[in-house]
Amino acid sequence: MCGIVGYIGKNEAKPILLDGLKRMEYRGYDSAGIAVLEGTNISTCKKEGKLSNLLSALESQEITGRVGIGHTRWATHGQPNDINAHPHSDCRDEIFIIHNGIIENFHELREKLKKHHELTTETDTEVLAHLIEDEMTEGVLLEQAVQQALSHVVGAYGIAVVSSKDPEKIVAARLGSPLVLGIIGEGEFIIASDPTAIIPYTREVVYLDEGEIVTVTPKGYDIRTLENITVTKDVTKIDWDVAQAEKQGYDHFLLKEIMEQPEVIHNGIRGRLIPEEGVAHLGGFLQKEEEWRKIDRITIVACGTASFAAKIGATMIEEYAGVPTRVEIGSEFRYKKPVLDDRTGVIVVSQSGETADTIASLREAKRHGSLTFGIVNVVGSTIAREVDSGAYIHAGPEISVASTKAFVGMVNIFALVTIALGRQREMSLVTGQRIAKELTDIPKLMDQVLALDKQIAKIAKKYYALDHAFYMGRKYNEPIAYEGALKIKEISYLHAEGYAAGEFKHGAIALIDDRFFSVFIAPQDSVYEKNLSNIQEVRARGGKVIAVTTEGNTDMENFADDVIYIPKTLEMLTPLLSVIPLQLFAYHVAKLRDCDIDQPRNLAKSVTVE
Ligand code: M6R
Repeated sequence: MCGIVGYIGKNEAKPILLDGLKRMEYRGYDSAGIAVLEGTNISTCKKEGKLSNLLSALESQEITGRVGIGHTRWATHGQPNDINAHPHSDCRDEIFIIHNGIIENFHELREKLKKHHELTTETDTEVLAHLIEDEMTEGVLLEQAVQQALSHVVGAYGIAVVSSKDPEKIVAARLGSPLVLGIIGEGEFIIASDPTAIIPYTREVVYLDEGEIVTVTPKGYDIRTLENITVTKDVTKIDWDVAQAEKQGYDHFLLKEIMEQPEVIHNGIRGRLIPEEGVAHLGGFLQKEEEWRKIDRITIVACGTASFAAKIGATMIEEYAGVPTRVEIGSEFRYKKPVLDDRTGVIVVSQSGETADTIASLREAKRHGSLTFGIVNVVGSTIAREVDSGAYIHAGPEISVASTKAFVGMVNIFALVTIALGRQREMSLVTGQRIAKELTDIPKLMDQVLALDKQIAKIAKKYYALDHAFYMGRKYNEPIAYEGALKIKEISYLHAEGYAAGEFKHGAIALIDDRFFSVFIAPQDSVYEKNLSNIQEVRARGGKVIAVTTEGNTDMENFADDVIYIPKTLEMLTPLLSVIPLQLFAYHVAKLRDCDIDQPRNLAKSVTVE
């Protein structure tokens, strides 16, 4: 996730900016840069890759000055390279800006700006620099120009801006992406998107709220709303240490990432979903819209957690778009003789975009002339570069080895792909609108499920010492059974198997005894009654049952030992909610078993070997 730092004061800005960027490294990034003002002269340096590349470049470039901004970029628009790295500037290199977030209407703004500006990068951020340039006419202050420019923007941002036309000043604003102002002393301030960059200098901070803009000069700071109303804010004292700050107060990255899931859904649908029209505007899909219209079957290839998201996607696509769809795991697909042709669409799914088996499968599909589409989190990764087109998940960096937020991000994109494919075919406007509306509501429903954390921690205490578990579900929640079992295996080393609930009676039921517990994912959907019969089969043999079901279905308390309720949503979207209790359960079991949650034994975040 991108990181912002800005400094204004009595000391040289460069070392403070670089220190801030170093402290935000844990967030993940793929390029970094700074811009420093000395009088009306602005020097800038930016480099692809790790901070060490920026440091090497700075060895041969003298940069001095007491006002500056710095950024670590996690690419969302355009490759991670020197040109796309922040800061970005206007046509005359008088205004420099760093930005976290996504500008939704950037295509539209870019098209307008192109007529009289020279745009040199692929980023959404650059349009902001040119918008500010347009507003910064004679006598206009930087903060006024920023305020005006932001009125044209739709999307999410945390920004910091400096300008040689109005030096000795940093203007920063937030809407949907955090910013904190640190008060170091008289005339000395630091601003950052993450308190980790601030804590070594001061613990006195002011948190900016949504829609606020701050102007910082050596004389002090002034906070206003985007509508120019002055805001008076309390100074707060940070009482976290640096390690806690990196995890934003959570004990583990895994828990932090689980809690970020509502935001992942927001980021994935932002600017892409038009609920009133019942359509999904996925840039990568629209690029190849005519080719996708001709596709009469789909193969999805992925590994691990991504393959479970793929299974949910396949069920969605078949049910709502009517296109026959199968899922293959990468390690198998690459060695089979796949039946592929130019009427087969191949979707590859990967958080890292670097999984060797998935890459090999993609290349095989391309050799057969299939149309390929990537659902990928890491921008500019191998898969993202090699597919014909695709859609980024926008989950931000996933630091914990076990995947959580990327999984829901993938399912989210599959819902968009389903709408896009469906509306090309038989899906009615009403169905498109219904899915879009329900998907838009998912983040707030996720918040309700996340609020069950304490209840789930209590349930974990009852089961953590057992050695075996079955996870079972049907239809949309069969893959959730696999994912729930994988999560608990990965992080707590408790042996668990995911099963299609109806298949269990064909053999595995023999294992039920008092060392086992079973987790049923049984929302009130089209297969609820079937699930209930399977629960009774387990209970009849003395098996303990934890059930995840729909709010209000208190009847389940007669059948299960523990019940976790999730809110009602459209059946195809239930996995986005039902997976959360299983992630939290795995987390609490792992904690009770004293496991290394963020870095489980024997696992790597990205499996780049066969
Ligand atoms: O980066 P990818 O999504 O391609 O990774 C695929 C799997 O290696 C990954 O999902 C793995 O199963 C995780 N450890 C799951 O938590």
